[in-house]
Amino acid sequence: MEKKRGKLYLIGAGPGDPELLTLKAVRALQQSDVVLYDRLVDPGTLAFAKPGAECIYVGKLHGEQEQTQEEIFDLIRQHALSGKVVARLKGGDPMIFGRGAEEWVLALEHGIEVELIPGVSSAIAVPALAGIPLTYRGVSRSFAVITGHCHDAGSPEWSRYSGLDTLVVLMGAKNRVSVAQSLIAAGRRPDEPVAFVERGTTSREHVITATLGEVAEAGVAVQNPAVFVIGRVVELRPRLFAPAETP
Ligand SMILES: C[S@@+](CC[C@H](N)C(=O)[O-])C[C@H]1O[C@@H](n2cnc3c(N)ncnc32)[C@H](O)[C@@H]1O
Repeated sequence: MEKKRGKLYLIGAGPGDPELLTLKAVRALQQSDVVLYDRLVDPGTLAFAKPGAECIYVGKLHGEQEQTQEEIFDLIRQHALSGKVVARLKGGDPMIFGRGAEEWVLALEHGIEVELIPGVSSAIAVPALAGIPLTYRGVSRSFAVITGHCHDAGSPEWSRYSGLDTLVVLMGAKNRVSVAQSLIAAGRRPDEPVAFVERGTTSREHVITATLGEVAEAGVAVQNPAVFVIGRVVELRPRLFAPAETP
């Protein structure tokens, strides 16, 4: 008799606020026996898991990524191959700096069925809900989402980002000074407006605005997790959040 194999749901949990989960995500959580969830997943999201489901925290600590990723792979393998339905719940969208595709490949290699449920990415939703749209007619016709994690300062790749209207840097809080210095060296203006949205979509959201030059001079304190936005769209924020005029 053929061995029963479970299923892997790769689920995007959105940027924080549990109400940003999709209906599909809620349905999949209600069908899962095991939930493997990341550091940036709001604990309120787990309320949608089915009663009795085993919820396992697999958040990665800085510097332990590789080892822990192996452990996560093992947990997926173990549970799915014993016939269980596994929900792999990741912050934002699993395919944006989330290693979702790697887990998908691994599951397929072991004959495990995979269903991807996209999530609302912090790259787009966190700035938008803070009053910073990534595109706006006459202000921004292009944007790129980049990582602030593994760039070498002064490397030529920074010049690729000099001509885009808006840049969104994820995992960029820690290296913000070298990111800003590299972008200025690559041709972006030091007086360009920037924003950091810390803990976006949560009750502890905090927005800091500055210029790229101020960030490059180490003059801006920022806490993780934060989305770092660079471009004139940042100037739209006061207009979107302006108090309504009374007639
Ligand atoms: C490893 S990346 C994962 C991105 C995720 N897959 C997504 O689509 O949002 C983690 C980075 O996302 C950003 N991030 C995620 N959630 C956030 C939130 N609620 N507020 C601010 N930044 C957030 C931060 O830049 C953080 O360092």
